[in-house]
Amino acid sequence: MHELDHYIYPHRVLHWLVALAVLLSLASGLTLGFLGYERTVALVGNTLTNLLYTSHKTLGVTVLLLMTLRIITRIAFVVPDHDPPLNAFERIVSTSVHHLLYVGLVVMPLLGWAATATGGFPVEFFHWHLSGLLGKNEALSETLFMWHERVGWALVVLITLHVAGALFHWRIKRDNVMKRMSLFD
Ligand code: HEM
Ligand code: HEM
Repeated sequence: MHELDHYIYPHRVLHWLVALAVLLSLASGLTLGFLGYERTVALVGNTLTNLLYTSHKTLGVTVLLLMTLRIITRIAFVVPDHDPPLNAFERIVSTSVHHLLYVGLVVMPLLGWAATATGGFPVEFFHWHLSGLLGKNEALSETLFMWHERVGWALVVLITLHVAGALFHWRIKRDNVMKRMSLFD
């Protein structure tokens, strides 16, 4: 039974790495989205602006890689039972939010990748330039960036709900939900 108190360790590590990478992607993406290229350059100069774009793309591609591993650890290993069991409302809401997060976290980097490539910009991962896979098409790039922004806001809402739920279970209901994902206990 003890084994089933937690998700398997690699899955927990992936949860927290993805959480960190996604929060940094959102922070850098929203900064770039609000300011746009020109105002970012005016504010922090060319070098830092390029670094911000490169870091954002690198983080986004990292999320895609980590999510690939995470889907494998999620499907391949047993999920712990809830003890005490969740009520129907908690079960439906948490499962829906978790599934939407999984979909959003795969779709979001793919949209960023495709929007960048069709815009004629480099798809950067650290100092490598990855294949864009798609040819230049500015109209398509604009549409994809629009969806990149919309899905970004959807992720902000989902993550807010998710963290609120986690804090509720941890500090108020004080059940074992946080422990399932904890690295330390
Ligand atoms: C989980 C992964 C990702 C998240 C959460 C994310 C989030 C965001 C957000 C919120 C924006 C601002 C949208 C706006 O207000 O217009 C943005 C912009 C941007 N993203 Fe991402 N992104 C991710 C992955 C990627 C990837 C993989 C790439 C490319 C390889 C990418 C390229 C860009 C670019 C170039 C912009 C700037 C668009 C502009 O100048 O308006 N993103 N991202
Ligand atoms: C401080 C922030 C966070 C806390 C405290 C937290 C906490 C938790 C906890 C306790 C669980 C286990 C739920 C269960 O019993 O099944 C969980 C699962 C999950 N979390 Fe988070 N989380 C955080 C951030 C994030 C972020 C930023 C994301 C994604 C953007 C995320 C995505 C998920 C997903 C998809 C699951 C479902 C579990 C699975 O099957 O992989 N979490 N989280």
